[in-house]
Amino acid sequence: MSDLMEDPRAGSNAAQQAGKKNHPKKVREIPESLKKFREIHAAAEAGGPPEKIAAQKAKGKLTARDRIAYLVDEGSFQELGLLMETRCTDFGVKDKHIKGDGVITGFGTINGRLAAIFSEDFTQLGGSLGRTHADKISRLMDMAADARVPVIGILDSGGARIQEGVDSLDGYGEIFYRNTKYSGVVPQISIIVGPCAGGAVYSPALTDFVFMVKGMSNMFVTGPEVVKAATGETVDFETLGGSMTHASKSGVCHFVANSEQDCYRQVKELLSFLPQNRFEAPPALETKDSADRKITLLEKLCELDPRKSYRVHHIIWWLSDEHRFLEVHQNYAKNIVVGFIRLGGQVVGVIANNPAHMAGALDINASDKAARFIRFLNAFNIPILTLVDVPGYWPGVAQEHGGIIRHGAKLLYAYAEASVPKITLVLRKAYGGAYIAMSSKLMGGDINFSLPSAEIAVMGPRGAVEILYSRQIKEAKEEDREALRAKLAKEYSDKFASPYQTAAMGSIDEVIEPAHARARLIGAFRMLAGKRRPGENERAGNIPL
Ligand code: HXC
Repeated sequence: MSDLMEDPRAGSNAAQQAGKKNHPKKVREIPESLKKFREIHAAAEAGGPPEKIAAQKAKGKLTARDRIAYLVDEGSFQELGLLMETRCTDFGVKDKHIKGDGVITGFGTINGRLAAIFSEDFTQLGGSLGRTHADKISRLMDMAADARVPVIGILDSGGARIQEGVDSLDGYGEIFYRNTKYSGVVPQISIIVGPCAGGAVYSPALTDFVFMVKGMSNMFVTGPEVVKAATGETVDFETLGGSMTHASKSGVCHFVANSEQDCYRQVKELLSFLPQNRFEAPPALETKDSADRKITLLEKLCELDPRKSYRVHHIIWWLSDEHRFLEVHQNYAKNIVVGFIRLGGQVVGVIANNPAHMAGALDINASDKAARFIRFLNAFNIPILTLVDVPGYWPGVAQEHGGIIRHGAKLLYAYAEASVPKITLVLRKAYGGAYIAMSSKLMGGDINFSLPSAEIAVMGPRGAVEILYSRQIKEAKEEDREALRAKLAKEYSDKFASPYQTAAMGSIDEVIEPAHARARLIGAFRMLAGKRRPGENERAGNIPL
C-alpha cells in the first residue's frame, strides 16, 4: 500500500537512495486477484478442450487465435469480450462456461492499418452461433462502423446453435442487419475456413468479398443429406458447396486460396487496394514505373486479325504499375475480367471484356459480376477503367429465358449510377448495345478513348450485310455469294467499323496512339481526380447482385 502513496516522479531518486543503502530486494507476492485474473485469461485464451484443438489441427486447420495472428501485425490485436458467456440455461450450455462463447472479437492492425476482426472457434461447441456469440460480432461491427475501419470475419461454424433455438436465429438477424446497414460504409470481408451452412451463408453473401480455401471451406443452404431427401440427388460436400463450386459456378466466392496461409496473404493484398471507409480515398503508392512507359503490345493488337482471340489480362498487366493486377472473381464469368491495379500510383478498378472466353460477349453472369464490382468501386471512391472488346450479347434461349434483359440492365444501371471518374478505352470490337453498356460516353463515361483498331458499329460487318443486302445475296449465284458477302462486309467496315465516325460525332473523345495508352490513361485520371471527394456522395450500399 505504501507504494501507492509514493510519488512516481520521485521514483528514480528513491531507487538511487535505496541502492546506496544496499537493502535486500523484497520478493513480491502475486496478489490473489491477479492470480485469478491470469488463470481465467489463460484458460479462456486456450479455446476449446485439448482434444478438440487436436482434432482441428488434424484436419489441417489453424485455431481461431492463430488465424488472427496470421492476419494482424504482431502484438497489435486488442481483444474485446473474451470473458462473455452464453445466457442460455437449456441443455446445460451455460454449465460449460464457454468463455468468449465460441468467437474471438477485437481490433488489430494489418500492415499498419486498423481492422475489426472476428474469428469463430470450431473447438468450442463447433463454433456454433449462440446469442452472445452474435452479440459480440454485432458490437464489433457497430464499433468498426463508428471507427470507420473494415470488418473481417473468419467463419468456421456449425451454424445456429441448436440448443439456443430462436435466440440464435435472432442472432443471425442482427448480423445480417448490420452487414446491410454498413454495406458501402466500411469494406466487409468474409473468410470461410470450415463449414458455413443454412441461413448462416447469408452473412458472407452480404459482405463485399468472400474468400474460401480449397478442400477446407463449404457453403450451402441445405447439405448433401437434405438434398438427397428432397430431390434424390447424390452429391458430396465439395461438389455441392466447396471453394471451386462457389468460385466458378455460383459466383458466391471471389477468391480461392490453396491454404489458409495463402488465404490471409491474399486478404492482405486485397486490403492494400481498399480505403478504410467511404470517407477516404484508396491508398496511393509511389511508383518507379514511368507514366509514359510505351505499351508496344497495343500496337501488336492493331495488327491482330479481328477474329483472333487473346487474353485481356496481358493488356491489363502491361498498362498497370509494375504489371501488378489483383483479379477478383478469377474463375467466374471469365468473359469479363475485373480487379484492381494502380496507374501512376493511384488505385483503379478495371472492367475488361475478355475475348479469350466466349469471344468476350456479355451474358447474365458477366453482367452480374461486373455490375456488382462497379457498385463496390463507386461506394469506395475507386475510379473505373473500362477496356472494351465486345462483340455483343451472348445469344440463346437459355440467356433470354434466364433474364439477360434484367441482368444486363444491372450493368447499365451500375455504370450510369457510378459518380467516380470513369475512363473507357475501346481496344477492338464494340458492337451494338454492348458498346453502349460498356461505359460509353452517353452512358456517363467521362473520357472515352479508342485505339485506331477499334470497330465501333451497330453490329459486326458480316451480320450487318446479311440484313442490309439479304436480297442481293439471295439473287446472286451460289458460287458468287461468298465473294459478294466479303466485298460488302469490307465496304461496311471501311465506312462504319472504325473509330473515326464515332470520334467525329463526339461519342469517342480521342483516338489515341496505342503505345501511349498508359500515359494517356494516367493523365486522364489525374485530370478527373477532383471529380468527387470521398464521402461526398450518399451512401451507396453494395447489394449482392
Ligand atoms: C450446436 C453444434 C452445431 C450446432 C456442431 N455442433 N454444429 N452444436 N449447434 N449448429 C457441435 C457438435 O455437436 C459437436 O459437439 C461439435 O460441434 C463438433 O461437431 P462435429 O459434428 O463433431 O464436427 P464435424 O464432424 O466436423 O461436423 C461439422 C458439421 C456438423 C458438418 C458442421 O457438426 C453439422 O452438420 N452440424 C450441424 C450443422 C447445421 O445443420 N447447422 C444448423 C444450420 S441452420 P461436441 O460436444 O460433440 O464436441 C442455420 C440457420 C441459420 O444455421 C439461419 C439464419 C437465419
